[in-house]
Amino acid sequence: MKSRWWILVAALAVPLAAQTAKNTCVECHAALDGALAKPAQLFDRDIHKKNGFSCVDCHGGDPSTEDPTKSMNRARGFVGKISRRDAPARCGRCHSDANLMHRFEPQQRVDQLAQYRTSVHGKRLAAGDTRVANCVDCHSVHDIRAVRDAESPVHPLRLPETCARCHADAEHMKGYKIPTDQFEKYRKSVHWDALAKRGDLSAPSCATCHGNHGAAPPGVASVARVCGSCHVVFENLFAKSPHRKPFDSMGLAGCVVCHSNHEIAPPTVAMVGTAPCAVCLNCHGEGDKGYQAAARMRSRIDELEGSLKRADSILRQAESSGMEVSQPLLDLGAGNENLVKAKVDLHSFDPAMVDTAVSKGLEIGQAAQRAGEKAMVERDYRRKGLALSLVTIAVTMAGLWLAVREIDRRRNHT
Ligand code: HEC
Ligand code: HEC
Ligand code: HEC
Ligand code: HEC
Ligand code: HEC
Ligand code: HEC
Ligand code: HEC
Ligand code: HEC
Ligand code: HEC
Repeated sequence: MKSRWWILVAALAVPLAAQTAKNTCVECHAALDGALAKPAQLFDRDIHKKNGFSCVDCHGGDPSTEDPTKSMNRARGFVGKISRRDAPARCGRCHSDANLMHRFEPQQRVDQLAQYRTSVHGKRLAAGDTRVANCVDCHSVHDIRAVRDAESPVHPLRLPETCARCHADAEHMKGYKIPTDQFEKYRKSVHWDALAKRGDLSAPSCATCHGNHGAAPPGVASVARVCGSCHVVFENLFAKSPHRKPFDSMGLAGCVVCHSNHEIAPPTVAMVGTAPCAVCLNCHGEGDKGYQAAARMRSRIDELEGSLKRADSILRQAESSGMEVSQPLLDLGAGNENLVKAKVDLHSFDPAMVDTAVSKGLEIGQAAQRAGEKAMVERDYRRKGLALSLVTIAVTMAGLWLAVREIDRRRNHT
């Protein structure tokens, strides 16, 4: 009985002692200046601290002694400042260890280091180039946050700036043969608009297309797949189109040929056709089949767009004159869906497919147009009817007035 009581006290005291145990690394470093103090100051926000880790788990050493010759003794495992070259392996000691990681987070991936080693960044680092990104360039250090934290440098909204620290810095990228405009261009794209301005987190940030740990440019074959992983319908049409084979054999990257990769603008109908600004003219010339198809698809899409616009305008006019046209206005919605479909089906580069969607849309547009015209005729009819009854009333009133005057005159005479 007595011994059990003792065990209970010990069981309570040990974690208490552990919690209040000295961490001389933090204590001493917090009192230093500049780069030596910063790690200790930042560390309160670090996810590793929140999970019970401390300086020694990355740097080694002995946190129980105030004597720096002992606490930071390399013979006792202290590694000091971790070099850029060694950082990934340091992080990987835990992050590649499924047994350890899954105790904290059962779903956590443990392939970051393995993936990193396959990336351009990882390969170049292994070859001795320390200007590439390692784990801490993307995740920061000493204030590492959960990746879902809105303030984490790898959160989709902050990631472009994180990559841009190097990729938009011409000085840093000097000597490499790649452009430094990705950030600037991406920030003008439909994707950044969707992500940042409309809060649509399903739109891609840099790592969605490039991968986070295996950051490498998707090769020609996988570029279309990157876009297609989200834009599935477009990808399926494009895959069956007459462009797939020649683009592949010319080494052209699917969607990117017409839409670009970083500076994707909102597509407009001006991109298709035979005007100088149309993308088709980059490859097709007067007389070839592509040129004829471009002209035809453009004129059909224009035709449908015009028809729907006219119908909408007459229905709105009727509506504002008080006519009941809610049903045809609703039907017109289906017409617009066909217009969208025509623009999607354009990616089959088969004019007959565009024709089908356009014809269906035109039918709806024309029916709506007729309903609008009918409503306007009825409005005119009602207006005429109203005018006629107003005249009748006025004539009757004038007649009455004359009659009253006549009666008055006769009365005055007698
Ligand atoms: C009594 C004060 C003190 C204690 C305790 C202490 N440090 Fe330091 N630490 C320093 C000073 C001063 C320097 C800079 C001079 C030097 O490099 O020796 C330093 C340097 C460092 C550096 C940078 C070394 C480099 O290569 O540039 C790291 C990393 C570090 N300490 C980690 C730790 C860790 C981890 C612990 C605990 C196990 C710890 N320190 C304990 C005072 C301390
Ligand atoms: C998750 C791993 C990790 C933990 C935990 C960690 N560090 Fe570091 N520390 C690093 C890495 C990696 C670097 C190198 C950063 C770089 O390349 O700029 C570093 C660099 C440093 C440096 C050198 C700073 C400089 O710019 O010269 C000091 C000092 C330091 N750490 C102290 C600490 C102290 C004190 C703690 C605890 C409060 C701590 N570290 C916790 C990974 C860690
Ligand atoms: C080029 C930038 C970059 C580098 C280098 C990088 N990461 Fe990441 N990491 C990211 C991004 C971006 C995410 C977030 C992915 C998301 O939003 O789901 C992430 C996610 C993570 C996660 C959360 C789990 C997961 O896999 O999604 C861990 C853990 C992680 N990284 C550790 C590491 C380690 C360890 C290294 C070094 C071996 C490293 N990272 C190198 C960008 C990077
Ligand atoms: C001593 C073991 C250990 C070391 C060393 C370590 N980590 Fe961690 N790390 C963890 C644990 C445990 C967690 C918390 C569990 C989790 O959220 O996945 C974590 C969480 C993270 C997260 C957040 C993951 C998420 O799900 O949001 C990132 C990012 C991260 N670590 C990056 C690093 C980087 C970068 C290094 C190297 C500088 C590093 N870690 C070194 C153990 C470690
Ligand atoms: C610390 C600086 C740094 C950071 C941060 C960084 N990179 Fe890099 N990156 C480089 C350097 C340097 C290269 C090597 C360029 C080369 O080999 O042409 C490179 C190469 C690349 C490449 C291969 C380019 C090619 O065609 O060779 C891609 C893709 C890439 N980075 C994407 C990213 C993305 C996406 C991010 C953010 C998630 C990022 N990088 C963050 C420095 C960085
Ligand atoms: C919608 C997908 C997508 C997004 C988002 C994206 N990229 Fe790219 N990126 C690509 C494609 C596709 C290529 C071209 C690959 C090729 O030509 O083989 C590319 C190429 C690159 C290259 C190689 C050099 C070059 O310019 O051709 C770098 C570096 C790069 N991107 C960095 C970034 C950075 C940094 C961001 C975020 C600011 C970003 N990318 C956002 C798809 C994307
Ligand atoms: C992670 C998913 C994802 C990936 C990968 C992706 N996109 Fe997008 N894309 C979106 C989202 C979300 C939108 C915004 C949808 C909207 O505006 O309704 C969008 C919008 C667009 C638009 C504008 C559509 C419109 O109606 O205005 C075009 C064009 C586009 N993407 C082309 C591409 C191309 C080309 C690639 C490959 C280089 C690509 N996307 C990769 C998700 C993705
Ligand atoms: C040969 C050129 C070309 C290729 C290749 C191409 N597109 Fe398009 N795309 C266009 C044109 C032209 C439009 C504009 C249609 C319009 O507005 O009338 C367009 C429009 C779009 C739209 C907006 C549709 C809408 O509803 O307004 C998206 C999204 C899109 N493309 C995605 C993709 C994706 C994803 C790929 C690859 C699978 C791709 N495109 C390949 C030429 C192309
Ligand atoms: C990057 C170059 C390129 C661009 C841009 C391009 N095409 Fe093509 N297109 C080709 C090649 C190459 C072929 C196959 C050879 C051929 O028949 O001319 C082809 C074939 C076609 C075909 C099939 C012709 C046949 O023989 O049956 C049609 C239709 C077509 N393109 C329409 C378009 C339209 C519409 C646009 C603009 C939205 C466009 N193309 C943009 C290169 C391009």
